[in-house]
Amino acid sequence: MRQAFNPAVPLPLLSQPWNSAAMLRTTEAAMATSEIKQLVLRQPDDWHVHLRDGAMLGAVANHTARQFARAIVMPNLSPPVTSVAAAAAYRDRIIAAVDPAYGFTPLMTAYLTDSSDGAELARGHAEGVFTAAKLYPANATTNSSFGVTRVAALYPALEAMQKAGMPLLVHGEVTDRDIDIFDREAVFIDRVLAPLLKDFPGLKAVFEHITTAEAVAFVEAAGANVAATITPHHLALNRNAMFDGGIRPHAYCLPVIKRERHRLALRAAAVSGSAKFFLGTDSAPHAAPTKEAACGCAGIYNAPYAMESYAKTFAEEGALDRLEGFASEHGPRFYGLPLNTGTVTLDRLDTPVPADLPAAGTTIVPFHAGETLQWRFSRG
Ligand code: NCD
Ligand code: ZN
Repeated sequence: MRQAFNPAVPLPLLSQPWNSAAMLRTTEAAMATSEIKQLVLRQPDDWHVHLRDGAMLGAVANHTARQFARAIVMPNLSPPVTSVAAAAAYRDRIIAAVDPAYGFTPLMTAYLTDSSDGAELARGHAEGVFTAAKLYPANATTNSSFGVTRVAALYPALEAMQKAGMPLLVHGEVTDRDIDIFDREAVFIDRVLAPLLKDFPGLKAVFEHITTAEAVAFVEAAGANVAATITPHHLALNRNAMFDGGIRPHAYCLPVIKRERHRLALRAAAVSGSAKFFLGTDSAPHAAPTKEAACGCAGIYNAPYAMESYAKTFAEEGALDRLEGFASEHGPRFYGLPLNTGTVTLDRLDTPVPADLPAAGTTIVPFHAGETLQWRFSRG
């Protein structure tokens, strides 16, 4: 992080013992929370986003392209993106939908099914079309009905991915209806993820949008081949947000937001400086009427104010100095991609978030709708 020099900002007072690590950390925290007026960061990437297709793609893609140089694009279209040809065509549609001035690069993923072919995955990876492949347990979330029903069926594909160095991205929830929805991530670790990684010790794996202290502990204890993404909303909200004076469909996403102790564990992981945790918004736009319904869709649309939201969390944690690692460095290092060379700026300025945004003939309610965020994003 390069902190803009501002002579008007006094240095924080140092008291004894000023040279202890804890004291330095406290001093940094004080600066981070109250003194820093501007952050200039290496341009970040989003390692998990839903850009949709057609008119909705046209409405949302520039929100991501404005903030992020690259994004890992989820393949859960209808029908899902399973072939190299479908991913290449989808990539072309995304590139056509974004303002070329942003220089945005979509990184494509393959949607894994019981019949995924390891040779097709490896070919897509070698040709630079598939950056990674995504495992959705069947029916775990939006457009996942073609997902994997038996992980055992996936073993030949996982073998090919391990050999090719192609990362596996995991939606980590069991789908058994007899498992409490708030326990589905923790149970997934024991029943699916831990055994899978034992059988494929060389497979690069990203535990996507983690939501629990159990997931944080699992990733921390795993080898360097295992990392996790964390969303802005799981850092900001606990499950009370879904029932705050009434049912709140715009706080509903999957994996569902958990209790406060989990939010605190996610925040500690995000600001820890560990290279195993990095930014993935899971921005998932749904038209407002499809969320405000008797059976509302899962997904939170955070792309328009994503970096402002992460900055809020890191400032509250006194850890603005850790934001650049989380947003711009840990992800590319894990994926083996170069760091971005451009910069973005976050100014400490009030930024009102609209109640809703027009999109494809309907509206979408963004994350933080109606709030005023304290940071303002700009490029350069
Ligand atoms: C995502 C979507 O809408 O595509 N929804 C969500 O709640 N996150 C799917 C997903 O990532 O689970
Ligand atoms: Zn997602």
